[in-house]
Amino acid sequence: MSKVSVPVTNDLCPQTLYVYGTMNEDETPNFGLFCWFSYCWLDDLGVICAIGGSKRTLENIRRNGVFSANLVTEKNLPLADYFGTADGRDADKMDVEVAWEKGAVLSVPVLSSSPFCFELEVEKEIPTGEHNEVVLLCRIRNTLKDEQLMDSSLTPSDLMKLTGVVRTCVNENYWAWDGRHLGNWHERAKEIKADVEIGAAARGE
Ligand SMILES: Cc1cc2nc3c(=O)[nH]c(=O)nc-3n(C[C@H](O)[C@H](O)[C@H](O)COP(=O)(O)O)c2cc1C
Repeated sequence: MSKVSVPVTNDLCPQTLYVYGTMNEDETPNFGLFCWFSYCWLDDLGVICAIGGSKRTLENIRRNGVFSANLVTEKNLPLADYFGTADGRDADKMDVEVAWEKGAVLSVPVLSSSPFCFELEVEKEIPTGEHNEVVLLCRIRNTLKDEQLMDSSLTPSDLMKLTGVVRTCVNENYWAWDGRHLGNWHERAKEIKADVEIGAAARGE
C-alpha cells in the first residue's frame, strides 16, 4: 500500500466516548462529553485524559480532584452529544432531564443510563498547552458495571451488542459498534434541546 503525508490529523482513528461527571460547588451535577481518553499503568490500571481549554468540567475536577467517566452508548448518545454541545458555564446547561446517582466510592455524579462507569481520582495534572490544555493521570478508585453484563455466558459479541458502545471518527461523526452511522457532532443534541447552540467551550474558547 502506498502512503502520502497529510497535515496532522487523527481523523481515521476511532475514539471511544465518555461523559465525565463532576460536582458543582453547590453539589449539583455537571456532565461533559470527552473522547481523548485512554489507559496507563500507575501501580494498577490507570486512566489518562486530555482536556483542552477552560471549561466547567476542568474547573470542577481541579476543585474536587475526582470525577466519573461514563461509557457512551447508542441509547444515551443524544444526551451525550448534548453534554458535548452546551457549555457548562451557561446557567441552563443542566436544565434537562438526566437520571444520575452518586458513585459507590467517590462523591461523583454517575450517569444512570451508562452501563460502565469509572470513579476517578486525579493523581497528576500535566500542563500541555498555552490555553489551559492539560493531561490528567487518574487512579481508578471504582468501576461500576450494569448487573446484566455480569452474566458469564455472554460472548464478546453479545457484550458489544448489549452495551452499544459508540465511537467517533471521520469529520466529527458518530458510529455504532457495528459500523452504522449515528449522526454528526451537535446534531443528536437537538433531540434533547431543539434550539441548543454550540457553546464556547465546545468551540475551544
Ligand atoms: C464528540 C466530542 C468529543 C469531545 N472530546 C473532548 C475531549 O476529549 N477533550 C476536551 O477537552 N473536550 C472535548 N469535547 C468538548 C466538550 O464536550 C465541551 O467543551 C463541553 O462543553 C464540555 O462540557 P462543560 O462545558 O460542561 O465542561 C468533545 C466534544 C464532542 C462533541
